[in-house]
Amino acid sequence: MSDTDWAGWQQSWDRQQEWYMPDREERFRVMLDMVEALVGPKPRVLDLACGTGSITDRLLKRFPDAVSTGVDLDPALLAIARGTFEGDGRVTFVTADLKDPEWTKELPYDTYDAVLTATALHWLHSGPLTALYGQVAGLVRDGGVFMNADHMIDTATPRINAAERAQRHARMDEEKAAGVLDWTEWWALAAKDPALAGPTARRFEIYGDHADGDMPSAGWHADTLRAAGFGEARPVWCSPSDTLLLAVK
Ligand SMILES: C[S@@+](CC[C@H](N)C(=O)[O-])C[C@H]1O[C@@H](n2cnc3c(N)ncnc32)[C@H](O)[C@@H]1O
Repeated sequence: MSDTDWAGWQQSWDRQQEWYMPDREERFRVMLDMVEALVGPKPRVLDLACGTGSITDRLLKRFPDAVSTGVDLDPALLAIARGTFEGDGRVTFVTADLKDPEWTKELPYDTYDAVLTATALHWLHSGPLTALYGQVAGLVRDGGVFMNADHMIDTATPRINAAERAQRHARMDEEKAAGVLDWTEWWALAAKDPALAGPTARRFEIYGDHADGDMPSAGWHADTLRAAGFGEARPVWCSPSDTLLLAVK
């Protein structure tokens, strides 16, 4: 395991994700700007559906006195996360299913200054996501924040959505022709790494290719977070396809 090039896997994960979201780093930057603005530069963070720990990585590079708990269900992405941060006392990773009503019991802390998530909650349908937002409201301390950067679709704007999608896919087709790895190809590569072959097989047993979920509008997220107990909620950044939604407890 120790011979595995974890930094290489992180870079290759980032390249694959950036093919879908060219603004991904900007989203992370604005997310951390808002963390600093609302809870300061030494936050205790929950990296929700952390994958390889992408948010935790940017958090600790920018705020060395922060601490982070990463929670996810994917054994392969968690193997990369654990390999990357091995020996770093600021970071803990927890294996849990966010649809399990008891998942918060696995966490090392009762409350967090910030719960942060990216490109993940569209894996959940809106029923389980509403339940998850209730749990998140219980984890964020008063004055703390929740932020979700994800695809959020406003069904009231079908022509804008179709035009945006067509342009996005044209750009992706061009980059694919130039050799970018997509989701399926990336997982095929992971399955060939001796350190990731077992966990990759297990993640396909858990999820199949990808879990089904919903992509409700930013308005739905803000309303649902307010109903869950947050005092304020609104977008703080958006691109034609994605929104960074911030809620303050
Ligand atoms: C596309 S990845 C994004 C990972 C990371 N946040 C990033 O931006 O690179 C989506 C993540 O959501 C996680 N996820 C989806 N459904 C989950 C669930 N029910 N419980 C825990 N994690 C889940 C997946 O395992 C995966 O790691």
